[in-house]
Amino acid sequence: VSKDCFLEGKEAVGGLRFEDVTLAPGEKVSYTIFIGATEDEKEIELALKSLDTREKVIVAKERMQQYWQNEVNVHFNGGCQEYSNFMRWVSFQPFLRRIYGCSFLPYHDYGKGGRGWRDLWQDCLALLMMNPDGVRQMIVDNYSGVRVDGSNATIIGEKRGEFIADRNNITRVWMDHGLWPLMTTELYVEQTGDIEVFNEKVTYFKDRQVERGNAVDDAWDDEYGKRQKALDGSVYEGTILEHVLLQNICAFYEVGEHNHMRLRGADWNDALDMAEERGESVAFTCAYVGNLKLLAKYIRILKERNGQKDIELMEEMYELISEDAKIYEDIDKKKKILDSYVKKIRHTISGKKIKVDAEQLADNLETKANWITEHVRNTEWVKDSEGNGWFNSYYDNNGNQVEGEYSNGVRMMLTGQVFAIMSQVATKEQMESICKSAKKHLYNAEVGGYRINTNFHEEKYDMGRMFGFAYGEKENGAVFSHMTVMYANALYKNNFVREGYEALKALADTSMHFTKSYMYPGVPEYFNAEGRGMYAYLTGAASWYMLTTITEAFGVKGNMGDLTIQPKLVREQFDKAGDADIQFVFAGKTINLYYHNKDRKDYGEYRIENADKSGTLTINRAEIETAQSNVYEIHINLV
Ligand code: G1P
Repeated sequence: VSKDCFLEGKEAVGGLRFEDVTLAPGEKVSYTIFIGATEDEKEIELALKSLDTREKVIVAKERMQQYWQNEVNVHFNGGCQEYSNFMRWVSFQPFLRRIYGCSFLPYHDYGKGGRGWRDLWQDCLALLMMNPDGVRQMIVDNYSGVRVDGSNATIIGEKRGEFIADRNNITRVWMDHGLWPLMTTELYVEQTGDIEVFNEKVTYFKDRQVERGNAVDDAWDDEYGKRQKALDGSVYEGTILEHVLLQNICAFYEVGEHNHMRLRGADWNDALDMAEERGESVAFTCAYVGNLKLLAKYIRILKERNGQKDIELMEEMYELISEDAKIYEDIDKKKKILDSYVKKIRHTISGKKIKVDAEQLADNLETKANWITEHVRNTEWVKDSEGNGWFNSYYDNNGNQVEGEYSNGVRMMLTGQVFAIMSQVATKEQMESICKSAKKHLYNAEVGGYRINTNFHEEKYDMGRMFGFAYGEKENGAVFSHMTVMYANALYKNNFVREGYEALKALADTSMHFTKSYMYPGVPEYFNAEGRGMYAYLTGAASWYMLTTITEAFGVKGNMGDLTIQPKLVREQFDKAGDADIQFVFAGKTINLYYHNKDRKDYGEYRIENADKSGTLTINRAEIETAQSNVYEIHINLV
């Protein structure tokens, strides 16, 4: 750069130039370039010595490649080879995100390289599939970031199990945060059968922030420490089940004027950050329904398998689980219940425990889930002028329903649809209708598939900064991979297989279309309006993409520790001979699973030869664990 050149807002780039060489025919030249950073100059010398010949470099490179090939221990084959290769990269991506945090490349214009609460739990999903050892401890440690009011610390400290309220000291509550831990724990419990993890006792996080971020505890100081205490001064411990219950039940009571959960600082969509007072997230209210049902399921399993007729809980929680279901309609009563609870546990808690009948508790949670389901079905179904229906996802800060047909066009958001389908708040017919509406209003294969929303043509200051982004960028109308992948996941779960496949395929196709997406192999955070991929590694989409492909498309997943097989592959995912295979780890073994679909039938036409009535084949965990070899082979004929 010349002396008088002045530039602003550009990235710094260095260039290397080599002396010219003239090569005779057949002659070669090779260069070894060292790039690195160290605080100890001597290390440079050592590194140079260990790699001072071309041969040494080649050996080192091979060792490095082998290392990563081993780390990424899932393999997919079938259909198109390019797609299988793409899946290898997708499976590698969660590592990159863990190594580099959410922001490391120059164009990662925000973030400080850390990972927040939501990302922490979702990255765990991929880890569970690839390297399950140690995940149990990680899950257990992470629960100590939960506060007794059901909210949580948002930033992970230096060591595991160490938390900070927020790196910028902003007291903000994301209403979706209570959701993710159970989703990850579910995968863990199903993969391993380790229901006992719910009985593990851990501490709670404590800081100045109380009453779910609505007040400050002036009596709290550093001396009190970052762990919740009981009246007698001891550090309080509760089971993981108690932690998850608090996260989900407190959310249940924190409703706005339409009796959906309040949006608070934002939800998964960080950019919906300007509706703190009156905003409501119907989308994530639906998501919590799934969790409430799951909790009921696991409480029943604890009772049946462990003989736990009673569940031990913190005494103060009683009022959150003992009310008459009639009050669910009553917004004021709900607020009062939550208010009375959060005030009681502001500084210290009694430390006393109560025993609650497991069956009653499970019923209570299910009643809550069913109530929300009915309420959303009855109040949030919207239609365009042609009669295509879907669910409204939000209320804005003026208390207005956000979606529907407006004079300047249709307003539809994907988020609400994803969770209404995933939690089965939507009926089968509603799901069909949502698929149609999403295809019509949100789908554009050219730019990656399902956009996150239609163009509102409005800078909606009563919703969030999202509407300040140009349409097609980031959380405003881009094909936001994470939400699209979760949409696919929800569709697969409900047997909308072709639709789910299409959603995933569009992402892959656009990503691999290099001259359009300019992407490294893998899924970008989003595709903009031109189909260009943005933010290479910042995305939980990779974890979810891999998870969905394994557990839904290839249909192999844990069911309380046993392996169940129920493929949902479409015709194109089998090769010419009708074969498709997957390699993954389960119960400590490498599983090689081969599907043979010799007539290349499509999903819906084939069934597993030896399946049970539901079309599933189950292999007992013990059978896999006690097998002689480290590799367990399964051949499945699809007929
Ligand atoms: C990113 C953030 C995530 C946030 C999402 C939507 O997701 O990491 O916390 O919920 O944007 O605003 P990612 O694309 O990394 O999954």
